[in-house]
Amino acid sequence: MADVAFKETVAWPQCKSALSTNTRRTEQINELVEARLKNLSVEQKVAQLIQAELASIKPDDVRRFGLGSILNGGGVSPNANKRASIEDWWNLANEFQSAARESEAGIPIFWGTDAVHGHNNVFSATIFPHNIALGAANDSDLMERLGAVTARDVQDTGIDWVFAPTLAVPCDYRWGRTYEGYSQEPEIVARLGSAMLRGLQGDPASTEFFDENHVLATSKHFVGEGSTRDGIDQGDTFCSEIDLLNIHALGHIAALKAGAQVVMAAFNSWNNEKVHGSSYLLQDVLKGQMGFDGFVVSDWDGFAQLDDDLETACVRSINAGVDMLMVSSDWRGVYERVLNAVTSGEIDAVRLNDAVGRILRVKALRGMLTSNWRLPSTRSKRTLGSKSKRELAREAIRKSLVLLKNSHGLLPLKPGKRIVVVGKSAHDIAQQCGGWTLTWQGTNNVTDDFPDAASIASGIRTKVRDAGGTVSFTDEVDADTEADVAIVVFGEEPYAEGEGDLNHLSFSRWDPTALVQMKVLKDLGIPVVALFLTGRPRWINPELNASDAFVVCWLPGTQGGAVADVIFKDGADTVRCDFAGRLPFSWPLDSSLTSIDRDSNQRDSYLPVGYGLSYEDKVSFEQLTELDETTGTSLRGPSFSGSYNYPNP
Ligand code: GLC
Repeated sequence: MADVAFKETVAWPQCKSALSTNTRRTEQINELVEARLKNLSVEQKVAQLIQAELASIKPDDVRRFGLGSILNGGGVSPNANKRASIEDWWNLANEFQSAARESEAGIPIFWGTDAVHGHNNVFSATIFPHNIALGAANDSDLMERLGAVTARDVQDTGIDWVFAPTLAVPCDYRWGRTYEGYSQEPEIVARLGSAMLRGLQGDPASTEFFDENHVLATSKHFVGEGSTRDGIDQGDTFCSEIDLLNIHALGHIAALKAGAQVVMAAFNSWNNEKVHGSSYLLQDVLKGQMGFDGFVVSDWDGFAQLDDDLETACVRSINAGVDMLMVSSDWRGVYERVLNAVTSGEIDAVRLNDAVGRILRVKALRGMLTSNWRLPSTRSKRTLGSKSKRELAREAIRKSLVLLKNSHGLLPLKPGKRIVVVGKSAHDIAQQCGGWTLTWQGTNNVTDDFPDAASIASGIRTKVRDAGGTVSFTDEVDADTEADVAIVVFGEEPYAEGEGDLNHLSFSRWDPTALVQMKVLKDLGIPVVALFLTGRPRWINPELNASDAFVVCWLPGTQGGAVADVIFKDGADTVRCDFAGRLPFSWPLDSSLTSIDRDSNQRDSYLPVGYGLSYEDKVSFEQLTELDETTGTSLRGPSFSGSYNYPNP
């Protein structure tokens, strides 16, 4: 273990799942794996450790080399066609599986994909809210249902492995992956993440586990990614081992206990040592003390960051405990270098057999080592989009919205009024989906890429027109604008990973457009409802001051029409559903702050975790008004009489 600032001995917990208590099945699988291992050549064993990216591999390569796995990176699809159909995905998966069966070793491959908010790489799939929204909803049952639907969608395209859930505990909002985390609270991450994993894989104690309606999930990224210095993606996390365990590993512990069979190593370093090369964390802690008996997959070329020499990097990573290498393009070069290292003894036979054995055990769990295993081609060719999935997505959105401010009880709105909707974001499906949507960054997508979607604007239009009201849409208000109320929709543009890293959180410094519109509306005496699309807390004091009601919509996915279900009364002057979302992260109200508040005693500088209004809360009108709009100052405590009913029991 690298020379660390903290000298301590920490006992990591044993993390056994129901899988390991089924000793009969374990014995059968171990026998199957041992028998298979004995018949594999060194070349065939090394091939099982390689995961090749779809754009760099052909079925014939799999037939010739017998690789263990393939993946499609964010935005990579069959024939580079973003609008590839289910059949295109399915047929390609069948080609690869047939090639694997025809290879000398005859071992089926795993196909991995980032279905992190629905089957988000595939055209016409229902895209669910990103994890930060699900953290605000904080509903374990909903997580399992989202996971189960996602698993069936993934299976319908012939794919059997999902690189989800992300179990990060983001601590600095400048990090571009904050929205992939559920919460700053490790307990919430553990509860929601393990529920998602159960939905994806099925209950490990039941026959549904890994059946044809479930997929292999991934406990990612192990460990400590959310606390890198300055929130720099793939940076260095400095913390004590006890904090690494109690904050950053809690989600992984819960995932392993829920039956996770794959852990993805994290890009970051811990106290100056890259996790991909840390035998202490991967062998001693994860596989030793925690008893993890599945396999560790590297992140995207994560192993190559260990050394400029590729063979040295592969050796260090595999000897540290990485079992499968996720290769962005040069899978043949990595294969040959690992083969060299095994031949030279730099990777010894014990380590090689351990790594291959772990991979084969998971394939055996899925029934892939039986001779008659086939992709379940008997699957009815379901359509990815469906009414029930749209309803599930709408339920998740309704539960995730957080009401920060509601002066004069402006919300819920009467739909029969004159409404003006301001801003391009009201119509932008790609923006409401965020990163990891059809493309890696979620950019370069147009409305027609989402045949089954509903914008925030469409939901408002339907609600108002059904009630006999009038609604108009504009990107820019002026002195002639007339309305009873204005709804200003604005937010972050899509991003993923380090592309989303920030050096400050002020939103209006990045894009003042919405603030300008809000001020014009205020001068016209038109009340303003702000709807904010964001992957993280941002500093928005100016926008809070300029609006009468403020709703955080996070990144809701394709069914943004559901926002109208909560902000409007039903025609009958009743409220269809109240705000239920509560902040999963403390929200900074001082523009000099960039990270979370774990002490929750800085009441003047943050809205705390669990904050969120509901309609029945009697909130004094002074709440969240006249906030200081300069750097480094803080807020008069919000005079709020509601209860912070969070986290839910
Ligand atoms: C990316 C991400 C990881 C993802 C993988 C495959 O770099 O870090 O979360 O699963 O590559 O797309």
